[in-house]
Amino acid sequence: MSIGEALLLAAEQGQTEQVRKLLKEGAEASYQRDSDGVSGLMVAAQRGNAAVVAELLQAGAPWNALDRKGCCAGEYADAAGQQETFDQLVLAGVQAELILGAVERQEARLGRPSAGPDTYLEQRLSGDAERLMDEQGRAVMMAWEGPLMEAHAHAICQQGADVLNVGFGMGMVDTALQSRQPASHTIIEAHPDVISKMKDAGWDRKPGVRIVQGRWQDVLPQLQTFDGIFFDTFGEDYADLREFHAHLPQLLRPDGVYSYFNGLAADNPFFHAVYLQLVAAELHALQGLTTQYIQLPIQMDDQVWKGVSNPYWKLSHYSLPLVHRDDAARQDNS
Ligand SMILES: C[S@@+](CC[C@H](N)C(=O)[O-])C[C@H]1O[C@@H](n2cnc3c(N)ncnc32)[C@H](O)[C@@H]1O
Repeated sequence: MSIGEALLLAAEQGQTEQVRKLLKEGAEASYQRDSDGVSGLMVAAQRGNAAVVAELLQAGAPWNALDRKGCCAGEYADAAGQQETFDQLVLAGVQAELILGAVERQEARLGRPSAGPDTYLEQRLSGDAERLMDEQGRAVMMAWEGPLMEAHAHAICQQGADVLNVGFGMGMVDTALQSRQPASHTIIEAHPDVISKMKDAGWDRKPGVRIVQGRWQDVLPQLQTFDGIFFDTFGEDYADLREFHAHLPQLLRPDGVYSYFNGLAADNPFFHAVYLQLVAAELHALQGLTTQYIQLPIQMDDQVWKGVSNPYWKLSHYSLPLVHRDDAARQDNS
């Protein structure tokens, strides 16, 4: 038996001392069995063995390694109902990503080249009342998200507010914002097909509405400050969202409210849980903002994904982020 296999066996049998001894003797904490990709961290997570999980994490076992079926240790804990171990792994993921984020920001400052041009904005879009699709069969926006958009509009807009929405899509959040009679309503949209649909529907002639055409990355310097901000783009990832968040101190008024479409890793409950804590921790540490999540149930029929190449939602609940400045949040609580 190899030292890696011995480590896996000790982790499976919950022998913390033996795990520690093997690690000292040179066993790799990251060892994964050839046949199925299972690691010591996965089996310890499945058994809810916090001590073994802690030993392995401390010795450098990657919190997000996947077995051959694409499952990580957090999913093993989740499937076995090991909530404490699930939370232990979420924390490990958040800590690792906070450190990684700091490293990435350092590299960005050193001039690391970007990932390359975005192809989404060059594709023709098509759609109907149910969905907006790109040429690759990816759903850009879907009608089942309507109640969520209504809740986001409710969260960021009161009558007479100055609001900003980034990403028009099917116009659901903007329609919900209009019904709340904001004083001004700025919409940033980058896709030419979406912009021409907005114009066909008369959005450029609505009182108080200003359409800012272009990528938010390019047009933000033209903007003032807002009472309410909502962010929901497509074809972007957490690095982009984090970049947008860096602008919030300049865009959000002292008592303002910010929210974003919370679809980060929404096809995986464990990675989604890591993002919930990671985004809140980064908004707090880097931007001085406090995040609360409002839980909303999701009801959808599997038929919704028929013909869609990116079924991006698999969770039973939606965590709607409500973000305030720390000082405003303190006043709310007092
Ligand atoms: C998911 S949809 C928004 C859906 C919208 N919240 C609704 O209620 O219908 C995303 C939109 O963001 C736009 N978009 C993507 N990247 C963008 C960027 N960098 N700047 C501005 N808009 C962008 C897309 O063209 C698309 O219209």
